[in-house]
Amino acid sequence: MRKPLIAANWKMYKTPKESLAFLSEFLPLVKDHTASEIAIFPTMSSLGYVIEATKGTNVTAGAQTMHWLNEGPYTGQTSPTMLESIDCTRVLLGHSERRIYAHETDDMVNLKLKAALDHDLIPVVCVGETLDKRQSGLTEAVLRWQIACALNGIKGASCGNVVIAYEPVWAIGTGSVATPEQANEAHAIIRREVAAHLGVSCASGMRILYGGSVKPDNVASLMSQPEIDGALVGGASLQAKSFVEIIRNAT
Ligand code: G3H
Repeated sequence: MRKPLIAANWKMYKTPKESLAFLSEFLPLVKDHTASEIAIFPTMSSLGYVIEATKGTNVTAGAQTMHWLNEGPYTGQTSPTMLESIDCTRVLLGHSERRIYAHETDDMVNLKLKAALDHDLIPVVCVGETLDKRQSGLTEAVLRWQIACALNGIKGASCGNVVIAYEPVWAIGTGSVATPEQANEAHAIIRREVAAHLGVSCASGMRILYGGSVKPDNVASLMSQPEIDGALVGGASLQAKSFVEIIRNAT
């Protein structure tokens, strides 16, 4: 059984003060929720505050990105050891906005994934095709390539905590959510590719989240699909009430 994970990616929204205001409304509303795991990925400037405020609750927090090295002359970067030092337990890797705007390559995602596993950070590796690739019939090729690159050199034994997020680029922030069937088909492709690299037992236990215009009124139909194990939510996670509705409607 794969326990669903519902995660909020706050991207470049919310100051520390706004993040804490969100939590003071949100945490009491989900305190008895056990049907899924809940995670929040705030900005780096809010992360330490969110980690402290969620200690002892059923919500965990993570970083939206990290470098793969522990230290060095890399202005603006945060290392895995720095995340560990503030009790961070999760990290998003290879989000399409990082791939597009920060020029993150598949090789970099692979280095980051290895570093996350070395530091016991639970990674959420994001993959997904652009509209152009989907319209050219290349969705499967793109997903298989991104997964193969991300998992290159990773051993099946260390796959226990890895989470994948399928985020079709054309569905992110556009309101054009993938149909449940489209998402399920993509998740099945991803799971087959994971199985080819890490083995069937690892793949069948791995959570694959869907992300891209998830809202309170579409999450249930997405979650009804057998291959969909949770959601990575952007815009609709910024308001406590709407994120709570998503969490409740998801299970
Ligand atoms: O990481 C989250 C995704 O990019 C989805 O964002 O829910 O605003 O479409 P969105």
